[in-house]
Amino acid sequence: MTKRPVALVTGATSGIGKAITFALAEAGYEVIALGRSAATLEQMQTQSGVRPLALDLTDREALETALEGEEIDVLVNNAGVIPPVVGFDRMAQSDIDATLEVNLSAAIATTRMVLPGMMARGRGHVFFTGSTAGQAPFPNMAVYGASKAAISSFAAALRCDLSGSGVRVTEIVAGRVETNLYKEVLTARARADMYGAFDAVQPEDVATMLRSVLEMPAHVDVTRFDILPTAQFVGGGGFAKKED
Ligand SMILES: NC(=O)c1ccc[n+]([C@@H]2O[C@H](COP(=O)([O-])OP(=O)(O)OC[C@H]3O[C@@H](n4cnc5c(N)ncnc54)[C@H](OP(=O)(O)O)[C@@H]3O)[C@@H](O)[C@H]2O)c1
Repeated sequence: MTKRPVALVTGATSGIGKAITFALAEAGYEVIALGRSAATLEQMQTQSGVRPLALDLTDREALETALEGEEIDVLVNNAGVIPPVVGFDRMAQSDIDATLEVNLSAAIATTRMVLPGMMARGRGHVFFTGSTAGQAPFPNMAVYGASKAAISSFAAALRCDLSGSGVRVTEIVAGRVETNLYKEVLTARARADMYGAFDAVQPEDVATMLRSVLEMPAHVDVTRFDILPTAQFVGGGGFAKKED
C-alpha cells in the first residue's frame, strides 16, 4: 500500500485551518491537526480521521518532541491571533508579545523543524496564512499588520533560499473571512456588522484554493494568492459596502 502524504495544519480547530484540515483529509492526506483545544481535535478525529495534536505553538519543546520522526509533505502555518483592535498607544505589551509570538515566531519555528526533511526528500509545500493587513495599513491594527507583513516577507525570502530544492512556498493573503478570529476582540454586534456589510469569504473557499494550488504540477509554484470578498478593496481604506 502506498503511504499517504502527510500534512500538518496549525490552527486546525477553527475557521480557515479547520476547513483546510477537512479538505486535505478528504483529498487523501494523513492530516496532523494542531491546536490547543483537545476537545475540538478529538471531535475532528472522530469526524474525519485526522490525527489530533493538542499543544500550544508557543511551547517549542513540546512541538519539537511531537514532530520528531514525522515526515511532513505539506505544512500549513495558519494559527493566528488578533490583539484588541485599539490604537497602538493603548495596547498592552503582553498582547503585542503574544501576537508576534503566534503569528510570526511560531510559524518560523515550525517551518525550521519541518523543512530539513522536505529538503532531504526534494519535495514539499509550505503555506503561510498572511493577510491583507500585512499588505496595506489598517487603523488600530499596527501590530497585527506588522506580524503579517513580516510573515509575507519571510515567505518570499524563504522561497529564494529554497530555489532548486523542490520545496514550494505559498502565502495565502486573506481578506475578510468569516471565522472566530475577532471573537475575543469585537462584540457580536460589531462582528455581525463587519461580516454582514458584504459577503465575507468562507473558510471553505480558502481551503478550495489551497487544494487547487497543491494540485498544480510539481514544477509550478503559486507563490501567493489573494482571496478577498468581491466587495472588499485594500489600500484605499478597506470596504465597499453593499447597497441596502
Ligand atoms: N478571518 C479573517 O478575516 C482573516 C483574514 C486574514 C488572515 N487571517 C488569518 O487566518 C489564520 C486563521 O485564523 P481564522 O480567521 O481561521 O481564526 P480562528 O477561527 O480564530 O482560528 C485561529 C486558530 O489558531 C489557533 N491558535 C491560536 N493561538 C494558538 C496557539 N498559541 N497555539 C496553537 N494554536 C493556536 C486556534 O486554535 P486553539 O484556540 O484551539 O488553539 C484556532 O484554531 C490566522 O493566521 C489569521 O491571522 C484571518
